[in-house]
Amino acid sequence: MARAAESARPDRLFEDPYAADFLRAAVASWVPGPEDRPRSRPEERSEAWVAMSAHLVLRTAWFDDYLREAVGPDGCCTQVVLLAAGLDARAFRLDWPAGVRLFELDLPEMVAFKERALAEKGARPRVERHVVTADLREDWAAPLRAAGFDPAQPTAWLVEGLLVYLEAADAAALLERIGELSAPGSRLSLVRDGSLRRTRELALHDPSMSAATRLWRGGLRQNHAQWLRRHGWLVHETGEAELRERYGSDRVMDGYGFLLAERPSLAERPRRPAARLLVLDPDGAVFLQRHHDAEVGPHWVLPGGGLHEGEDPLAGALRETAEETGWTDVVTGPELWRWEHDYHRGDVGLVRQHEVIFLASAPRRDPVGDLTESFAADGILGCRWFTPQELGEVTETLWPPQLVSLLADLRRDGPPATAVDLGYVPNHTGPDPEDRRDGH
Ligand SMILES: C[S@@+](CC[C@H](N)C(=O)[O-])C[C@H]1O[C@@H](n2cnc3c(N)ncnc32)[C@H](O)[C@@H]1O
Repeated sequence: MARAAESARPDRLFEDPYAADFLRAAVASWVPGPEDRPRSRPEERSEAWVAMSAHLVLRTAWFDDYLREAVGPDGCCTQVVLLAAGLDARAFRLDWPAGVRLFELDLPEMVAFKERALAEKGARPRVERHVVTADLREDWAAPLRAAGFDPAQPTAWLVEGLLVYLEAADAAALLERIGELSAPGSRLSLVRDGSLRRTRELALHDPSMSAATRLWRGGLRQNHAQWLRRHGWLVHETGEAELRERYGSDRVMDGYGFLLAERPSLAERPRRPAARLLVLDPDGAVFLQRHHDAEVGPHWVLPGGGLHEGEDPLAGALRETAEETGWTDVVTGPELWRWEHDYHRGDVGLVRQHEVIFLASAPRRDPVGDLTESFAADGILGCRWFTPQELGEVTETLWPPQLVSLLADLRRDGPPATAVDLGYVPNHTGPDPEDRRDGH
């Protein structure tokens, strides 16, 4: 109903000429779904229903754009898979480039209802369309492959309005299977964690929405962005400011966002030499800067950065620290640790960083001068000092991840006689620090 109502608006974000037909057919043979239950009288439209409708409209517009981009000149996806397609009419209403193949999966009852309604309307798809009957809690990869899906081709996956209907283990298994079937360049987009919290709470307390909410099982119950990063996806996040610019401020609910995940290429990563300073104040507090990237997510790093061609590592660490803090009087000590790690640099993509860390000391103070440009150029989102206790309470990733124990060793034993080589440290090993905080 929300899609039919949106399609009739003069300022519509999309047009779905099939939504009204599905609605008429659904009135005759009821299909459960919070968005599709007909509410003809305004007094029937509760706060929860209004919020859910706004959500459905925004996510439809976003996922339309997501799919257009994935199969367009800037994407490379030649297959589209709509998991739990339900009454999704994108195969019939969007323009698709030649050569794209689209697969729709859903439960038998829903598939039968939809195909009947489409046949009655004489609808013709605008893309090579394959309909697959499958329970997404079971082995759906086999029928998908049997229908012609090729896991060697990049795929745009759509998981819209489904995860909440699955138990946590089924949701995780579904997302894992998507990863297994995703060639490099494949994409997946999800609603960002927390976007729907209020809408779902309203719906759960609204008896008129119980036909749908009684089917809800909670979904993944983990931070989706971190889960995807831990399972080999690069994840870009789009927040409400960008959405408001794109779709209009009255269309975007507070705190709303989407995730756009991409399966990285398997090409070898370029090596990036870097050096940093472990700057301690006289009380042993450490100075860190906050970054956020598609591969690692939010994380805290020591000041420093990439070395110039042939640059001495200590000189490079001091130069970078001065650029990032304005401090020119940092006193340096011996080299402490070396390590290698992976991350996603906005300008060059995936890199493997070979990093050297030196001990340093400085008085406790804020950075000096106007560092706006330097912060923007280096992607620094903020910075602060952490006492040893505060550092132990950080829920986001630290670089290196074992920084808390390395600092404890340093306080107890002093600097090592020769630098300790920590080797290659993979991302996202051990428990997810974000899960301790988010827990959803
Ligand atoms: C809220 S609808 C979303 C439909 C569509 N993606 C959209 O956004 O319009 C949820 C869909 O999930 C499907 N579904 C729920 N559990 C499923 C399962 N175990 N296997 C396959 N489909 C399922 C339902 O049949 C329904 O079509």
